[in-house]
Amino acid sequence: MHKRLAAAAALLRDAQAVACLTGAGVSAESGVATFRDAATGLWSKFDPQQLASQAGFAADPGLVWRWYMDRLQKISSVQPNPGHIALAKLAARFAQFDLITQNIDDLHERGGSPTVYHLHGSITRYRCNRCAAPYTLQPQDITAQTPPVCPRCRGPIRPDIVWFGEMLPHHEMEEAWRAARECEMMLVVGTSGIVYPAAQLPQLALQHGATIIEINPDPTPLTPIAGVALQAPSGEALPALLELLDAG
Ligand code: OAD
Repeated sequence: MHKRLAAAAALLRDAQAVACLTGAGVSAESGVATFRDAATGLWSKFDPQQLASQAGFAADPGLVWRWYMDRLQKISSVQPNPGHIALAKLAARFAQFDLITQNIDDLHERGGSPTVYHLHGSITRYRCNRCAAPYTLQPQDITAQTPPVCPRCRGPIRPDIVWFGEMLPHHEMEEAWRAARECEMMLVVGTSGIVYPAAQLPQLALQHGATIIEINPDPTPLTPIAGVALQAPSGEALPALLELLDAG
């Protein structure tokens, strides 16, 4: 492991432009469940079609609302872990550092990362499902049994999260694809690498000459394209990487 960490640090030491793609694994050590873990993953316990699709929302808006309010409360009650904090510190070392996440939590921001591209939206933002007007969550909404209604058009309010079958947000996509083309190194942290189009980013970076450093305790479909694969939890590997870089 130390050899691989040293190899990753050596690659990063001279880089100017670095990008980082994170997934649910980076928040696992904070206590946020991932999606595809066989025992604890959200999609092993809940039906994504019911909870993360337009059809599911239309069928039972209350169920969907209560599930996201439950997740919001859970996420609000946990703290960024050493992996989030190390990423924020790493960013400061490079002329360009683009942080792209598939996560809907705000743990990167709370860990100190100034700019985060949320490819799958954010559980801290809300909007009308009909007219798309932004909505500010009220304290009583958190325990409501059904979604609040839009003050403009009376449509149901939803979290600003990308559901299955929906488009990714335009600005975040543009920035993420730009970052993948421009970076010399891409860190791929805590993602199973099977959800597209996000999983395209490491491939695109590779095509444009970048080296991929993967951090994940388990192998993924992206492991074969990684120049260095650190098979460790990100809450350990990222601080260790930072320490090596700091040591010069
Ligand atoms: P997954 O649940 O598919 O994958 C989580 C990955 O994190 C796995 O590869 C684990 O091995 C790894 N992992 C677990 N613990 C870790 C740790 N401590 N450190 C580092 N890695 C660890 O989650 P994502 O790849 O993020 O989409 O899933 C992608 C998308 O699928 C999500 O954004 C979500 C979901 O459907 C939407 O909600 C739109």
